Amino acid sequence: MPTVYLNGEFLPLEQARIPVMDRGFLFGDGVYEVIPVYDRQTFRLHEHLSRLQHSLDGIRLCNPHSSAEWEALIDRIVAQAEWPDLGVYLQVTRGPGPRDHAFPQTAQPTVFILPMPLTPPAAEAIEQGVSAITAQDIRWQRCDLKVTALLPNVLLRQQSVDAGCTETLLLRDGFLLEGSASSAFIVLDGVLLAPPKSRLILPGITYDVVLELAAKNGMPYQVRAITEAELRSAEEIWIASSTKEVLAVTQLDGQPVGSGQPGPLFRRMHADYQTYKQQVMRRAEVR
Ligand code: PDD
Repeated sequence: MPTVYLNGEFLPLEQARIPVMDRGFLFGDGVYEVIPVYDRQTFRLHEHLSRLQHSLDGIRLCNPHSSAEWEALIDRIVAQAEWPDLGVYLQVTRGPGPRDHAFPQTAQPTVFILPMPLTPPAAEAIEQGVSAITAQDIRWQRCDLKVTALLPNVLLRQQSVDAGCTETLLLRDGFLLEGSASSAFIVLDGVLLAPPKSRLILPGITYDVVLELAAKNGMPYQVRAITEAELRSAEEIWIASSTKEVLAVTQLDGQPVGSGQPGPLFRRMHADYQTYKQQVMRRAEVR
């Protein structure tokens, strides 16, 4: 049973309890992060903590901890985890209060940190790619905030499970935005295309890594709106997230994408991503 952090205490998961009046439970009134950890080294921690601040600001909730405090809490969760590779799930809610939509006068936020085992994508998913479906985006107008109220994402993701697929790619007003739990990219005419960040997209940490690696390694790329027609005629489609890294989508709505195999740019990006991960871990060892 993993050790978790809840409101000032480290304790076994089965002993962690929150009041039923917590606004996270009643309203989904909270935000979260998932931070990958490889060989007990956090990956892009500062970027995750700054996105957490953005999400907290977006829902008008004070950050209960300084960055140094978050780092210390996460370090302890990582040190005590059973697995060297994990996803650190952290969540902050507006805490318990009367069941009233309006914020309580004196809210004490609930802070929860949970270590989850992180298994890298299976070799088959990397070599053969994965399948995806498309759906209209039914989420709200602030998808840039990583909020725990994930019901639209849950329903959209389940659609792909029901179809035997890995992800649901979301379209709004004829444009590709992202996946139900991942960022999305396409390759068209040999150029990697990424949808621009906006309030309709989560600013993915892996998205940034992918574009940084493209820039560093001379892969042609452009950040611009992607139409549904471009998605359907793409040579390659990729999804990316902290838990999936980067994967090629080789089937979309039952049709092969390009050759039906992960494309050459994906293979390059996958290799560059692995090299980058190794470098980050080596740098951490030296410190
Ligand atoms: N989800 N877009 C959405 C809607 C997401 O939920 C996620 C990640 C991403 C990718 O973001 P990042 O690269 O920072 O992980 C994009 C996480 C992993 C989750 O909800 O479990």
